[in-house]
Amino acid sequence: MSEEGRLVGGSRRRDDNENIALRPQLLKDIVGQDRVRDNVQILIEAAKGRNDTLDHVLFHGPPGLGKTSLAHVIANEMNVNIRVTAGPSIERAGDLAAILTHLKQNDILFIDEVHRLGKAVEEVLYPAMEDFKLDIVIGKGPAAKNVRLNLPRFTIIGATTRLALMTAPLRDRFGAQFRLDFYELPAIEFIISRAAKMLKVQITPEGTTEIGRRSRGTPRIALRLLRRVRDFAQVRADGVITGPVAGEALEMMDIDHLGLDDIDRRILQIIIEKYRGGPVGLETIAAAISEDSSTIMDVNEPYLLQLGFLARTPRGRVATAHAYEHLGIFHEDTGSEDIPDQPSLF
Ligand SMILES: Nc1ncnc2c1ncn2[C@@H]1O[C@H](COP(=O)(O)OP(=O)(O)OP(=O)(O)O)[C@@H](O)[C@H]1O
Ligand SMILES: [Mg+2]
Repeated sequence: MSEEGRLVGGSRRRDDNENIALRPQLLKDIVGQDRVRDNVQILIEAAKGRNDTLDHVLFHGPPGLGKTSLAHVIANEMNVNIRVTAGPSIERAGDLAAILTHLKQNDILFIDEVHRLGKAVEEVLYPAMEDFKLDIVIGKGPAAKNVRLNLPRFTIIGATTRLALMTAPLRDRFGAQFRLDFYELPAIEFIISRAAKMLKVQITPEGTTEIGRRSRGTPRIALRLLRRVRDFAQVRADGVITGPVAGEALEMMDIDHLGLDDIDRRILQIIIEKYRGGPVGLETIAAAISEDSSTIMDVNEPYLLQLGFLARTPRGRVATAHAYEHLGIFHEDTGSEDIPDQPSLF
């Protein structure tokens, strides 16, 4: 199955566009990332108080947790323009130069997938971020001339799911860096009930919890599941999302009570059944289940690590006793009886 087809994949899907209306607009709408929100608030107030441009900000963490939303919230709160682009769309240094020369004082340039900028582009970005200077070469051959242009003071907000792939010099140029983590259940429940109100969907507290638990601590997945369960409730029940209705709908979508889908389970199964629990390299796992290794790294692995089902070792990934238990496979070292209580994300 492609990532696009997955219900509990954190990555964007086309039908997520409906979520844009549900996107938080102001900092007070950001629930569940209190530390990040409070720090961002201080950055904003300090910049406003000094009448200064906001420092460059980097958001990193798994897909669907609110990096893009936060960038837009910051632009709203600062009352400045935001220009949106992504690492892979800035192919040449000249593309970046064109974007930068069109920015106005205090504008925000949001660069999604900032780890995917090419080397030549990054080199133009360094002096631009540091000194608001643009170094360009005019002409070719012996007549070529280096020219240094002044740029207005602007802010770059970068977002990445792969901090490790960012070069150190680029990372260092972001004055403020925030890691977004999976949300706790109460925050996810709050996001679901707020969205249900906006979508005019009737949902009971039990229904909210049922969807919340299976959302992998990820707002994007919570909103997606809410819409799918709404459809189910409309067709199979009387339109109200109760606990049992949500549970039945999600079982039908093959999403288990911890939010794992078929791909997550296959990853664990391969490690356990084919590699006796590991360690096994990620590329090997990806090939065995015919999935893209970067999707596994971005979407599946962080959540399985968080649940304590998977461990990372220098020699590869290892399935833990909890993973055996979740899949109902006997674990020879411990025996299922000895396994402590099921860990929970929440
Ligand atoms: N704190 C929040 N409160 C309410 N809704 C949120 C919150 N964070 C994210 N969302 C919702 O979740 C969706 C996904 O968020 P967003 O697009 O910002 O994630 P992202 O981290 O940028 O993901 P990606 O890595 O795929 O770009 C948005 O449509 C937004 O409506
Ligand atoms: Mg995004």
